[in-house]
Amino acid sequence: MEAKKLWGGRFEASLEEWVEEFGASIRFDQKLAKYDIQGSLAHVQMLGATGVISLEEAQSIQAGLEELLNDYEAGKLVFDVRNEDIHMNIESLLTEKIGSVAGKLHTARSRNDQVATDMHLYLKDTLFQVVDKLTNLRQTLVNLAQEHIETVMPGYTHLQHAQPISFAQHMLAYYNMFSRDSERFAFNIQHTDISPLGAAALAGTTFPIDRQLTSDLMGFSHPYTNSLDAVSDRDFILEFLSNASILMMHMSRLCEEIINWCSHEYKFVTLSDTFSTGSSIMPQKKNPDMAELIRGKTGRVYGNLVGLLTVMKSLPLTYNKDLQEDKEGMFDSAETILVSIDILAGMLQSMTVHKERMAQSTEKDFSNATELADYLASKGLPFRQAHEIVGKLVLECSKAGYYLQDVPLERYQEISSIIGPDIYTALESQTAVSRRNSLGGTGFESIRWQIQQAKEQLSASKGL
Ligand code: ARG
Repeated sequence: MEAKKLWGGRFEASLEEWVEEFGASIRFDQKLAKYDIQGSLAHVQMLGATGVISLEEAQSIQAGLEELLNDYEAGKLVFDVRNEDIHMNIESLLTEKIGSVAGKLHTARSRNDQVATDMHLYLKDTLFQVVDKLTNLRQTLVNLAQEHIETVMPGYTHLQHAQPISFAQHMLAYYNMFSRDSERFAFNIQHTDISPLGAAALAGTTFPIDRQLTSDLMGFSHPYTNSLDAVSDRDFILEFLSNASILMMHMSRLCEEIINWCSHEYKFVTLSDTFSTGSSIMPQKKNPDMAELIRGKTGRVYGNLVGLLTVMKSLPLTYNKDLQEDKEGMFDSAETILVSIDILAGMLQSMTVHKERMAQSTEKDFSNATELADYLASKGLPFRQAHEIVGKLVLECSKAGYYLQDVPLERYQEISSIIGPDIYTALESQTAVSRRNSLGGTGFESIRWQIQQAKEQLSASKGL
């Protein structure tokens, strides 16, 4: 028998099955089940408290909803595509449980404020999890920095050896990026922590409802102040998708570096076996698949942002069915970032850092050329002139096949009498790194200070 639609009153003919399936969202919006029930619980309590329905009716609906929540948690709820979406599925399951009194639940409410409420509840929950996982990732980076203050590696610009830096400095750069991500997600909570419930279809309701009460019962900070905005606002999701995109971009950059560092050419790190895979044909292979996947998944997260921005563009107020398209991208980005953050943290925690190899690769290069120029400048030579002298010497060395540290003292003194034997210590990468203690620099003292700052920030964000 054809199930009667909850909105069936004004219709004479019913949808064909394939058309019905096109319009249905239950395949994906069932992820909102628990939030939908939570919202309904708040709504029915309010309906009882304000006398819109009787207390007995409210209690019976509440008991039915609580049973549904238990059934859901036990994996026992079965949804039907003929009931279109999660809201009508839950209502029809409730009717099966408690009979026609279930029909009173939808008083002073529409699916428009209901779906918006579910999305706010889902996203708020997700945002707290994201911030929490980011704290773990940030802590992992600070731990690595702490362990590697004096681990020297090449610093790059244009992917060319530029100046030697500390591996800790590199990790702390990412710590700062993820800290800003964390702040963005934390701010995103503010725009998500608002209750649309009671805006009804678009214009509010004639029933004496209490929107502050439902907002409080659901743990929101306050209700939306305009009903049209309440049902049609998706900024909180766009902010999330945009924050998720920036986060993925950061993770992807770090993954790209890890992938490079694992290569035969760099050999700066080795990933643990638990985060690597082999090849079905080449027995020697150990591939950084998980890092590549995070880099790859960045694409879908960007796609979800552009997708929803495009859905929202030109949408007239208020609810339009287009808005049903806000869900899959949000779920997908949420699930993608939650697992990617954990994978990245696990990968970093278990990788081996090859300090000697990193240091070695700063020894046979010209990344100490700035040291020589700075040495000359600190003895009074104008920096531009020093730059010119060193540039010529680098050319001379590279033609002859040796490096600045191999140039004999006599040659140095021919170039400039202000160069003394202390030049050789100045040219060592360890010295070069240790001395860059300008604020934020890679000097060991500066790094210790940065780590201290990071630790203070981390203990503050743990209390969020
Ligand atoms: N499944 C719908 C959505 O996700 C719920 C709201 C439907 N409202 C309506 N007026 N058709 O957007």
